[in-house]
Amino acid sequence: MGFHASERQHVGALYWAAFGRKLQVGFPDAARGEAFVTDNLRADRMFVARVDGEVAGVCGFHAGGAGAAALTWRGLRDKFGWTGAIRATVALAPLSRAERDGVLVLDGICVDARRRGRGLGTALLAAAHEHAAGCGDREVQLSVVDTNPRAEALYRRLGYRVVDEGSMGSLGSLYGFRRYKTMRKRVAR
Ligand SMILES: CC(C)(COP(=O)(O)OP(=O)(O)OC[C@H]1O[C@@H](n2cnc3c(N)ncnc32)[C@H](O)[C@@H]1OP(=O)(O)O)[C@@H](O)C(=O)NCCC(=O)NCCS
Repeated sequence: MGFHASERQHVGALYWAAFGRKLQVGFPDAARGEAFVTDNLRADRMFVARVDGEVAGVCGFHAGGAGAAALTWRGLRDKFGWTGAIRATVALAPLSRAERDGVLVLDGICVDARRRGRGLGTALLAAAHEHAAGCGDREVQLSVVDTNPRAEALYRRLGYRVVDEGSMGSLGSLYGFRRYKTMRKRVAR
């Protein structure tokens, strides 16, 4: 659980490489979006996988009303002013996922492109399940977008099942995906 202050830039680069395509819609440009998200990642909302002491993958989660990136109104307003904060809040709202009682809702799982296919994603999900079990949660939930069939295949193989589907409608081209699935898996006792 968590990352050291010295790892923040590395974690931010990893998170942005995986999710910047959709998050950048909320920011004036990609560079400022990456810097803001990086500065506001929460170490207490992330599982981290390391290989030879180096961060190789992360898996965010929601708890207590906050996800892996604390993109708060106040933080956005202080950084980008009122107009920028309103823009970010409106643009990022369709990407937010509500917390649910008894369910650990994940918030972005990604593995360094050079390290994929070696079990790190599976290990991060196992850590999430261990955490959920410790918190007394019944299920772990994640979302996967229609442009990511390999990730969906992994989740299905691990026992996740689709419980809901949604559409971004005409905003799809803006965020880089049109549809998403919500998947859940029961926590073993
Ligand atoms: C999805 C992801 C987290 C899986 O991590 P991983 O460490 O490669 O996962 P594992 O090694 O435990 O399992 C490998 C399986 O993941 C799936 N996978 C999904 N995308 C993959 C990718 N780009 N490269 C390799 N495997 C990928 C495959 O089904 C693969 O199984 P296969 O080797 O039989 O094809 C990782 O590929 C990733 O970071 N992708 C980019 C970000 C992303 O899409 N995140 C998911 C958002 S829902």
